[in-house]
Amino acid sequence: MPKQNHTEPLIRPFNAVIFGGDGDLAFRKIYPAICHRFIAGQIKDFQVFAVTRSAKKHPVFYDQARTFLQKDITYPVLPEVIEAFLQRIQLVMITDDQPDVGYGQLKQEVQQHPERQTVFYLSTPSDAFQSICQKLKHYGLIHEHSKVVLEKPLGHSLASSKEIHADIIQAFSEDQIYRIDHYLGKETVQNLMILRFANQLFENAWGASCIDRVEITVAEDIGVESRAGYYDQSGALLDMVQNHLLQLLCLIAMEPPINMEANNVRDEKLKVIRSLRLFDEKSVATHTVRGQYTRGEVDGRQVPSYLEDIGKFQSPTETFVAIHASIDNWRWKDVPFYLRTGKRMPGRFSEIIVHFKSVRHNVFNPSEPIEGNKLIIRIQPQEHIELVQMTKLPGPGGYRYKPAGLKLDFIDSFKERLPEAYERLFMDVLRGNQTLFMRQDELEAAWVWTESIAQNWKKTKQKNILYEAGTFGPGQQIFPPRQTWYNTHENTYRTL
Ligand code: BG6
Repeated sequence: MPKQNHTEPLIRPFNAVIFGGDGDLAFRKIYPAICHRFIAGQIKDFQVFAVTRSAKKHPVFYDQARTFLQKDITYPVLPEVIEAFLQRIQLVMITDDQPDVGYGQLKQEVQQHPERQTVFYLSTPSDAFQSICQKLKHYGLIHEHSKVVLEKPLGHSLASSKEIHADIIQAFSEDQIYRIDHYLGKETVQNLMILRFANQLFENAWGASCIDRVEITVAEDIGVESRAGYYDQSGALLDMVQNHLLQLLCLIAMEPPINMEANNVRDEKLKVIRSLRLFDEKSVATHTVRGQYTRGEVDGRQVPSYLEDIGKFQSPTETFVAIHASIDNWRWKDVPFYLRTGKRMPGRFSEIIVHFKSVRHNVFNPSEPIEGNKLIIRIQPQEHIELVQMTKLPGPGGYRYKPAGLKLDFIDSFKERLPEAYERLFMDVLRGNQTLFMRQDELEAAWVWTESIAQNWKKTKQKNILYEAGTFGPGQQIFPPRQTWYNTHENTYRTL
């Protein structure tokens, strides 16, 4: 069983009301996250309300929840503990035709414990947010200690995102709103802040004078699974780039905040997003690539094409994006940030590679350039940080050298289990810490940049380049040679 960190402040008692309570995200991420913290003894006085729209029979719901918890909890834990957690979940059915019944029941339950804070977790499509917030307000369920957690995507355009915000802000104030991007909850992503702001080592080299380029890759081997309807409306640009990849870019590129107070951190991220160069019809063609997977082989298994996965004959949706992004500010002028993400790649890995410039003059062999250092930050799987530097090959024969990595492997260095992103983020909501959540202005700035891509794709009718499932996608089309890809199977890097 994981140890509790006793330096953490005690958590105020709470009610968690999960809208979309029988949805995929709730089963896969939200309940396991709360359960891990329960097992760790970090939360004691609480109740979870799973809000559903259909009358799913109780045993079916609990069986499903139990199965997901058992799968997720990989350390020894007594079955009674899981059962005790399941008893904390109460089903509440809320239907559109009889909202009074469900909201009335919720109100009664919540009123029984006025000392508790209430977290409303909206794990539903964003078109339901307005009605939920209105009803919560109407039935008097919101008070000063209430919070609302919003799952992405928050709209499908800048305009729709503003509309959603206008509705939510009628019920909750900005300091009660938690817009979740689960990448910010990943240990390695948070470690980026420590790496940058608790180590002097890199600071003087962190910028255009020493860095040649930055690669940010989030590759997935899965396809669209059961989310075809949602995914076909979003595509990789909105599903991944607009949030996860952009947040990673911010953490690499931002200036040090004054301190870790939420608004100070978010102010710095906002400046980065606002410095991103917008795309036009010309640059979108030369600096972005979109792709869609066809049939292929992943992990020795034949997999269907995207169109087969979604059951359509055609679709303009991209399942792969590669972008050469530019940050027009003092620190990063002319340093390319190469972002790419795709489904049905050869493996699942997320990583950032900071490529340093090579030494100006090779004293060992002036006619041969020396490869620059690389700082490799692997976010998943097997989180680690590696600094690749040149090392002399042992033995006689002159000064021969090759790149070698200095590794900091999280798994080996820290024996404790790394908490899942949702655990950390959920605890931050309970503590009222918004540092790892997006502010509305940040989100809107991200939309402006993303729309400069999406709209110019539309205008120029930029087509998807088809790529075979199980391959690295068409990113090479815009990236310079010598891009690096991590090979999950061989645990080595491969240069394209
Ligand atoms: C989600 C996307 O936000 O992130 C999914 O909607 C994607 O399409 C997932 O699969 C990836 O998250 P992770 O944590 O598995 O890298």
